[in-house]
Amino acid sequence: MEISTTSSSAPVSDERLAEILANPGFGQFFTDHMFTAEWTPDAGWHAARIEPYGPLALDPATAVLHYAQETFEGMKAYRHDDGSIWSFRPEENAARMVRSSHRLAFPELPVDDFVQAVDALVAADQRWVPDPAGEKSLYVRPFMIATEVFLGVRPSQHVTFMVIASPAGAYFKGGVKPVTLWLTEEYTRAGRGGMGAAKTGGNYASSLVAQQEATGHGCDQVVFLDAQHGRYVEELGGMNMYFVHDDGTIVTPETGTILEGITRSSIIELAGKLGHQVEERRFSIDEWREGVASGRITEIFACGTAAVVTPVGELKWDGGSAPAPASTDLTMRIRQALVDIQYGRAEDPFGWMHRIV
Ligand code: PLP
Ligand code: COI
Repeated sequence: MEISTTSSSAPVSDERLAEILANPGFGQFFTDHMFTAEWTPDAGWHAARIEPYGPLALDPATAVLHYAQETFEGMKAYRHDDGSIWSFRPEENAARMVRSSHRLAFPELPVDDFVQAVDALVAADQRWVPDPAGEKSLYVRPFMIATEVFLGVRPSQHVTFMVIASPAGAYFKGGVKPVTLWLTEEYTRAGRGGMGAAKTGGNYASSLVAQQEATGHGCDQVVFLDAQHGRYVEELGGMNMYFVHDDGTIVTPETGTILEGITRSSIIELAGKLGHQVEERRFSIDEWREGVASGRITEIFACGTAAVVTPVGELKWDGGSAPAPASTDLTMRIRQALVDIQYGRAEDPFGWMHRIV
């Protein structure tokens, strides 16, 4: 893919950038540039470019604004101690965007073009990649939107793929401490044949009211159960889940209606290396409640790109609660093993890291 570049004539000053990188929060500040490419049936993917970051001018009848034909990805670029910059399994994000694109009736963006686009933006805005202290990183958000101006309901004949980036600190305020969860019994995230496995805005739109309920009950995140039985644990609003048992096995909900997390699959491999077998299977909410009560479940954790690996504490629902499991030891060991690879502080036996700069 040929990419043209127009550099920003007003990049943020070094002083302001230092201020932002000292305390980036999550998703609040955006780099000096953005990547864009367009697709039409006749021309295929074309007009790939890096240009100054700024607002889009969209016709009010642009399809994405009405029918939510959209997919996105979330990944990070990490600075290593020697100053080099790396991403984590970017071809997995690219492959997942292809799968999401099929579900959303979008054209396929080739894996190599996706990786090239991310690399080009991160390289252009490399001064925005924070120092590794405090596990900061540059969060990268590729996304695809339906940009045909048309109110009919059919796949858009004009598609725009973009990449933006935002420096990131800890996703949860207060750093790594157990998150409390709210079990929603009213709302579900995905049904059979639905969009649960796709990373698309609609899934997040439908999670908001449940997340609001969670926040209203003093919880950090919401847990979704399966739509068919209302019994099996699926995932959180933005993270996959793991249940550590007293015999050392770890259970994680099987894929199908959940997002196939890249952290999730990496942890399955990492846990194996640490001597823990991971079972991917249905896991009921009763198993959770009873396992915590009996002590058979010793740890619960959640994982995702933004949140990394986070211990899970108390679970609350309408009329009851289950206490936090006793330990977070294995959770923190897995977390450390993962971030050590991502920040280049440990060997990368799986070949997960991809050098950008
Ligand atoms: N589940 C949902 C609903 C998510 O939004 C995310 C975050 O991307 C994940 C799981 C974890 O996926 P990954 O590890 O690829 O970031
Ligand atoms: C991610 O971890 O990348 C996510 O997408 C979670 C959330 C920010 C949507």
